[in-house]
Amino acid sequence: MLLVNQHRTGDAQTATEQTATEQTATEQTANEQTATEQAANEQTVADDSLPVDLAVDSAIAIPAPQTHHMGREIAQTMHYTGAPWLVRESRQREEDCRLLLEALAIQPGQTVCDMGCGNGFYTLELARLVGPKGLVYAVDIQPQMLRLLARRAAEERLKNIKPVLGTAIDPRLPMGTIDLVLCIDVYHEFSHPDQMLARIRESLSPDGRLVLAEFRGEDLAVPIKPLHKMTKAQVQAEIEPAGYKIAREFDRLPWQHLLFLAPQEGVAQTPP
Ligand SMILES: C[S@@+](CC[C@H](N)C(=O)[O-])C[C@H]1O[C@@H](n2cnc3c(N)ncnc32)[C@H](O)[C@@H]1O
Repeated sequence: MLLVNQHRTGDAQTATEQTATEQTATEQTANEQTATEQAANEQTVADDSLPVDLAVDSAIAIPAPQTHHMGREIAQTMHYTGAPWLVRESRQREEDCRLLLEALAIQPGQTVCDMGCGNGFYTLELARLVGPKGLVYAVDIQPQMLRLLARRAAEERLKNIKPVLGTAIDPRLPMGTIDLVLCIDVYHEFSHPDQMLARIRESLSPDGRLVLAEFRGEDLAVPIKPLHKMTKAQVQAEIEPAGYKIAREFDRLPWQHLLFLAPQEGVAQTPP
C-alpha cells in the first residue's frame, strides 16, 4: 500500500497548513526551496508563455469552507508543492490516462474546461485533442499551479489554452459555451460543492457534460487515501439535488470512476 502513503505528498501540505508552510519557506534560504516552488513562484515566465487570467474580484466574499458535505468529509486542497506527483512517470501505468482521454471522445474544435487543472497534466493533452480551432479553459484556485501549467504549455508551444484563476465558489467561466467540463481527481476537494456545481452547470453548452473522475471509494484495492476517494452512490447523492443526472459511465479505468453528468431539466433552477 505504498501509494496510500505516497498519494498527495503535496496533500501533506494542505491549504490550512499553507500559511505555516509559507512561514517555513521564508525561514529557508532560496537554495533550500524546491525546484517546484521556485518555478511556481516566479512572477515572470518565458516570454511566449500563456497569459494567466488572475483578475479575481477580491471584493466578493467567499463563505467559510465546508468541512463536510452530505455525510462526506471534504478533502483539503492539494498544495502546489505536490505538483510533481501529478506528472509522475508511473501515472499512465497506474491510472491509464490515455484510456481516460479516449473515453472522453473529444472532437477537434470543441471548447472544454480542465477544472482543477493543477500543473496541466491533462490540459496539454486536451489542447492537442481539441486542436487549433478548439479551446481549453484551465481553471485552478492556486495561481502557482496555473504558472506551472503556463510554463509547460509554452514548452510544448500550445496556444489554445486559457488559464483562469477561479475561486472556491466560482470558476469564472463564460456562460453556456463549454462542451465538456472535466474534473479529474478534483470534485472531492471542492470546499463549496453546491456553488461550484451550479456555476459549472451555467457554463455548459446545450449538450454539454460535466465529467467526474474520482478514485473508487468502494474498491479497497485502489491504493489511495479514503478521503480522496468517492463511491458512486455518494456522487449520485450529491449531484442529483444539484440538478445533474448520470448520463453515461465508463468503468474500464483501473482505479477511477468516470461519470458523465448531464444537467437535469427543472431541478435547481435557482443555483446557490
Ligand atoms: C489532485 S489535484 C488534480 C489536478 C489535475 N486535475 C490532475 O489530475 O492532474 C486537484 C486540483 O484541484 C484544484 N481545486 C480544488 N478546488 C478547486 C476549485 N473549487 N476550483 C478549481 N480548482 C480547484 C486544486 O488547487 C488542485 O490543483
